Amino acid sequence: MKSDALHASVVERFTKIATSPGAEQKFPVGPKSAKRLGYDAAEIDALPPSVTESFCGVGNPFSLGEPRPGQTVLDLGCGAGFDTIHAARRVGSAGRCIGIDMTAAMIEKARKNAALAGVGNVEFRQAEIERLPVDDGSIDLVISNGVFNLSTDKPRVLSEVFRVLRPGGRLQMADILLEPQVTPEEAAQKGAWSD
Ligand SMILES: C[S@@+](CC[C@H](N)C(=O)[O-])C[C@H]1O[C@@H](n2cnc3c(N)ncnc32)[C@H](O)[C@@H]1O
Repeated sequence: MKSDALHASVVERFTKIATSPGAEQKFPVGPKSAKRLGYDAAEIDALPPSVTESFCGVGNPFSLGEPRPGQTVLDLGCGAGFDTIHAARRVGSAGRCIGIDMTAAMIEKARKNAALAGVGNVEFRQAEIERLPVDDGSIDLVISNGVFNLSTDKPRVLSEVFRVLRPGGRLQMADILLEPQVTPEEAAQKGAWSD
């Protein structure tokens, strides 16, 4: 599949997860999955359902360390804003968080979710992670959950991460990987970007 077609199929898939999260059959979505991945169950239960129902991360980037008060955090492929809101609560009013996603329905839901969760120090931008609308050297912590695997140009995403990070900044990401024993033929079959 060509890059444009892959891009369109990813947007279609995640538009459905934003608007009808309960209909997803192939991978875990929602608060139960977040609890299984190590997020605090009481904190999840206290959030409005809209904030947690479209969570489709594959791990917990905060298991590598929580954002600190005052930091600027960038969430690549933020979806409906679950991790961005988690980070916004930790950085506090002296910090801020930016969520980036290319799927309009996810960005729209993330903005509503931030308002529902009562966090004002977040901003969501509809964009591709291969071309970040973010200033050079402006970010303390980049987080990402289940997104790099969907990019057709991973070296470019990494180079964007290095461009926007401050010296000494961190990238904390969770993702899915191909095991070495998977052949290119199997990868081509199984590795459909949005399946
Ligand atoms: C598996 S979901 C994860 C969403 C969120 N991180 C979470 O944990 O709930 C992947 C998200 O990445 C977004 N995405 C995929 N490829 C992207 C790209 N190249 N640029 C921007 N967003 C992308 C999708 O629109 C989708 O919302």
